Amino acid sequence: MKNLMSELEERAAEFERILGPFLPEASGSAALVIEALRYSLEAGGKRLRPVILIETGRMYGARDQVLYPFAAALEMIHTYSLVHDDLPAMDNDEYRRGRKTTHIVYGEGMAVLAGDALLNLAFETALKAFDAIESYTAEDALSYAKDCRKVIKALNILSKNAGIEGMIGGQCADLCAENAPGSADAESLLYIHEHKTGSMIESAFTIGAVLGGAPEEDIKALSKAAMDVGTAFQIRDDILDVEGEAEKLGKTPGSDLRDGKVTFVTLHGMDASVREVGRLTDEALKAVRGLNVRSAFLEQLCVWLTSRDH
Ligand code: IPE
Ligand code: IPE
Ligand code: MG
Ligand code: MG
Ligand code: MG
Repeated sequence: MKNLMSELEERAAEFERILGPFLPEASGSAALVIEALRYSLEAGGKRLRPVILIETGRMYGARDQVLYPFAAALEMIHTYSLVHDDLPAMDNDEYRRGRKTTHIVYGEGMAVLAGDALLNLAFETALKAFDAIESYTAEDALSYAKDCRKVIKALNILSKNAGIEGMIGGQCADLCAENAPGSADAESLLYIHEHKTGSMIESAFTIGAVLGGAPEEDIKALSKAAMDVGTAFQIRDDILDVEGEAEKLGKTPGSDLRDGKVTFVTLHGMDASVREVGRLTDEALKAVRGLNVRSAFLEQLCVWLTSRDH
């Protein structure tokens, strides 16, 4: 495999070509909210979740036409979570993905609506996977039913991991901890990390595999790897908020300290944070190396995700 960074860039660019046709044009009465949601979605970002979803899907032989709507939907939900996360009512941040945040450019009301619209658009988009199945299984009723069940399972993972048992639950606990200084312990911080970040990473690791009909043991291993890597990814994010560079990050460091956030660094210190990231990365690697289908790209990515500088 080529250098991981250039591979990642190519795959992110591939995903952006996939995403384009799923986006509405900014016209009609809702033109402004469409412009606002495209502003956040088209600002870039690492595109890690859709890239992982497509990779794991291809590992198990899922068809691109079924994977693409889910990859686009996952990035839409992730982007909405960032637009809302940056609002003054939440983390109150001014920069994201190297640009002014959506509420700074379009106003708070429009940023709320852009996030809401992205969430709805995500499910409208994911549902398009059924159209893809219909077109390739027109004469094969048996595989149509089987593939429909896979898509329904994937929709369940997508919605649950974005919701109250997933990312929203984690964001709720994150805000509660901010509003009650001193209340969060190691266990509640783990809940925050696993839910606000781990859940969406779990969607990235498992949805493609489910769509490809991966064996149950592999889906379990991918889910475990995702939780470890997702938690380590968030601890790395907490570390970068302390020692990262604004230009590389595309967002302003120091915001956790300013907001009085409970992070792995504030609770356990920098050295323990670095050690925990290493431990979790090793755990994740063990799980992905034990899969029935191996992917050098996925293995290398697990290491990079937790050692990245942006
Ligand atoms: C940012 O996610 C939010 C966290 C979960 C730490 P990313 O670091 O993946 O953000 P983008 O998509 O590259 O902007
Ligand atoms: C955000 O965590 C996780 C989300 C669900 C958006 P952070 O609040 O630490 O993410 P950044 O640092 O703003 O990207
Ligand atoms: Mg936050
Ligand atoms: Mg934030
Ligand atoms: Mg952060």
